[in-house]
Amino acid sequence: MEFKDKVAIITGAARGIGEATAWAFAERGATVVIVDINGEGASKVVADIKVKGYNAMAFAVDVSDKKAVDAMVEDVFEKYGRIDILVNNAYISGGYALVTETSQETWNKVIAVNLTGYFNCAQAVARKMIPQRSGKIVNISSGAGINGSLSSGVQYPASKAGIIGLTKGLAGDLAPFGINVNCITPGLIRTWTPEEMAEQATGWTLEKVKRYIEVEVPLKRVGEPEDIAETVVFLSSDASSYIVGEVINVDGGGMLDSVAKRESLLGF
Ligand SMILES: NC(=O)c1ccc[n+]([C@@H]2O[C@H](COP(=O)([O-])OP(=O)(O)OC[C@H]3O[C@@H](n4cnc5c(N)ncnc54)[C@H](O)[C@@H]3O)[C@@H](O)[C@H]2O)c1
Repeated sequence: MEFKDKVAIITGAARGIGEATAWAFAERGATVVIVDINGEGASKVVADIKVKGYNAMAFAVDVSDKKAVDAMVEDVFEKYGRIDILVNNAYISGGYALVTETSQETWNKVIAVNLTGYFNCAQAVARKMIPQRSGKIVNISSGAGINGSLSSGVQYPASKAGIIGLTKGLAGDLAPFGINVNCITPGLIRTWTPEEMAEQATGWTLEKVKRYIEVEVPLKRVGEPEDIAETVVFLSSDASSYIVGEVINVDGGGMLDSVAKRESLLGF
């Protein structure tokens, strides 16, 4: 198998895109390290993966806590003697508020988890990957980092744009050591139901959510976590060994102008 004997750390993998990514690597023979602030959820994913006969271990870690991240990376390295892949994925959104109503606390917390958390993990694994002269780091950003977001305030797109810049900086730093760093900007991915989104995002109704999906995504479907997981696998494989510092939209065409947008805005 392509990832046999490889060790992959995936943050925010107790659910959603991170969990799907952990399964994608485990099924291809990698040992997966599930890192999440939700320790119970992380242990449950590890138990499910192990039942299928694959290798996994869990860490209850807040990625914004540098000391905890360093200790986790040391533990993984001590146990397996190598770290081949890091998928930076853990996040919080901070919810929606007009910028004038956004608290300093919300801003600081979102930047701490979404941006500093990615830096903490990348720095700690880079210290192990550089002597190996090999490694792959995939940062999960968001289309919100390019176009802003209708459902979260300014803090979330700002953090996600920062991840794109972090990717560029890391990629230039680490490429000379044989380490590929790249970024994925997902569009709408089914880690929530339209009902949940209507409930949680201020001003949205179920009808508006459904209409939004129809107009926003030319493929006319919400993406599955596996759509992102498979792109992460590609960016962590030998098939992408000459790709460095790239940002790949995986969004069903969500950034394009489309027939649906023309119909919705102009009526023809
Ligand atoms: N789902 C989408 O539509 C979508 C769209 C664009 C981008 N993304 C990006 O994809 C990634 C995953 O999104 P998702 O929808 O799977 O999220 P999710 O909410 O399903 O899972 C996020 C995970 O991160 C964990 N987490 C939160 N704070 C943490 C911390 N401080 N330390 C460690 N773990 C922490 C949570 O416990 C949770 O398990 C995120 O980076 C997000 O920005 C998602």
